[in-house]
Amino acid sequence: MTHSPFQVSRLDTAVESIRTRVTTAPRVALVLGSGLGDFADTLEDAVAIPFAEIPTMPVSGVQGHAGKLVFGRAEGVDCVAMQGRVHLYEGHPASDVVFGLRLMIRLGAKIVVITNAAGGANPRLDAGELMLIEDHLNLTGTSSLLGPNEDALGPRFPDMTAAYDLKLRELALGAASEAGFQLARGIYAGLLGPSYETPAEVRMVFAMGADAVGMSTVLETVAARHMGARVLGISCITNKGAGLSHGVLDHSEVTETANRVKGRFVGLLRGVLARIAKGEAE
Ligand code: HPA
Repeated sequence: MTHSPFQVSRLDTAVESIRTRVTTAPRVALVLGSGLGDFADTLEDAVAIPFAEIPTMPVSGVQGHAGKLVFGRAEGVDCVAMQGRVHLYEGHPASDVVFGLRLMIRLGAKIVVITNAAGGANPRLDAGELMLIEDHLNLTGTSSLLGPNEDALGPRFPDMTAAYDLKLRELALGAASEAGFQLARGIYAGLLGPSYETPAEVRMVFAMGADAVGMSTVLETVAARHMGARVLGISCITNKGAGLSHGVLDHSEVTETANRVKGRFVGLLRGVLARIAKGEAE
């Protein structure tokens, strides 16, 4: 059988370079969306490696998405956090968009926590709410598995029936209620961006069953499932979707809401990690 060893060899080059600086294998990988980057700075015994210092790692140019991997411990769990991510709308191939996530899994992470900022497509969702992702619609028009399959990473046709792990979802709901708030639950639609949606597009995705819209996560979840990692996805609803509020959408609103909610979001992540440490994810 012929298949390109390209991704695998790139990943292993990156793994080799990281292992010269970090010897502990991470158990949990976190992709930190807008506003959550600070979480990485709270990891104990942290070792930060800028993307630019990792051979073969694609680098993002988006402002406010300074890219680095931060290794360290939180709530007794060895973690690696990706601060800043590469987006499809920057023009990177889908396989590059998920490279950082694949790398964290290749380094040993069995659980990935993927976070994002999203607009509410369901009129019942308000800015500032956190939403547990139960499932997704990949409306990016592409797949992170496009091209020859690399059998060393995963199967050609990975199952997506329970892309967002049920046990981890229950664990997150428990952690939220312990922290004193209710986590919304819903379906995340991932679009290409980078323009925000038209009001008609927001109504379309809601009619299709989505509760939130964003420009990330779905390709990452597909790649994680391809590699057999378990996924927990959480959206910070930073704004009502286009047409559902009186104003127009502006990136500053997204970052302001994300910053406002970050204390609660970080608390939730810590609650989730504490439960994982107690063995509740098994
Ligand atoms: N649409 C898409 N992506 C987003 C939004 C939105 O309304 N808010 C934050 N990220």
